[in-house]
Amino acid sequence: MKVLALNGSPRKDGNTAKLLKKITEDHQDVDLKYYDLVDLRIKDCTSCFYCKQHEACAIKDDMTKIYRDIKEADAIVLGSPLYMGAETALLKAVVDRTFALVAFGDQPRQFVPRLSPGKKGVAVFTCGNPRGDEAYPYMKDRYYGYFAFAGIMKVKVEMVGGLARTSNVLESVKAQEIIPELKRFIGD
Ligand SMILES: Cc1cc2nc3c(=O)[nH]c(=O)nc-3n(C[C@H](O)[C@H](O)[C@H](O)COP(=O)(O)O)c2cc1C
Repeated sequence: MKVLALNGSPRKDGNTAKLLKKITEDHQDVDLKYYDLVDLRIKDCTSCFYCKQHEACAIKDDMTKIYRDIKEADAIVLGSPLYMGAETALLKAVVDRTFALVAFGDQPRQFVPRLSPGKKGVAVFTCGNPRGDEAYPYMKDRYYGYFAFAGIMKVKVEMVGGLARTSNVLESVKAQEIIPELKRFIGD
């Protein structure tokens, strides 16, 4: 099984990274590709719509290898801290660029995923607000919607709140609950 994990935090050993690693590492028979997006050069989508005439993005940068990894992965695991109530710009740039993984359908405003069916999607968010789930419910809605748009129907989205820069996410009760659940979801 192939797992792709993308860390949208600029902190490579922060809460999000620790959580992502715990969820994706130590699986049996898993080929894991883990990227700190801060190390990659991924430009913003330019809305050129080249990807609707071709099965590729016009921009050639580190997203080229992420496209390949997404296509090959059985599970795609995204992680980001919340910045001003949303995912970081590092993760959002990747998400926007995955517009290239969706084609126009025959009908107006119809979109057809280019990804093969059966993939799993996971998104985990960390945040300072101890009531992150209640404060930012739209994040879950958005990422369930995002994965569905991309043709990924088996999805889990989780939020771990109450985390400062100096916190250790692995001591959080919520993190301790969701880590085994998400590991099982990815491994099943
Ligand atoms: C620029 C910035 C904006 C933030 N905005 C929010 C926010 O809107 N809501 C929140 O609950 N926490 C916010 N936080 C706190 C982080 O989401 C939280 O500490 C997170 O766990 C950090 O993850 P990391 O250790 O992976 O970088 C913000 C932190 C920074 C640096």
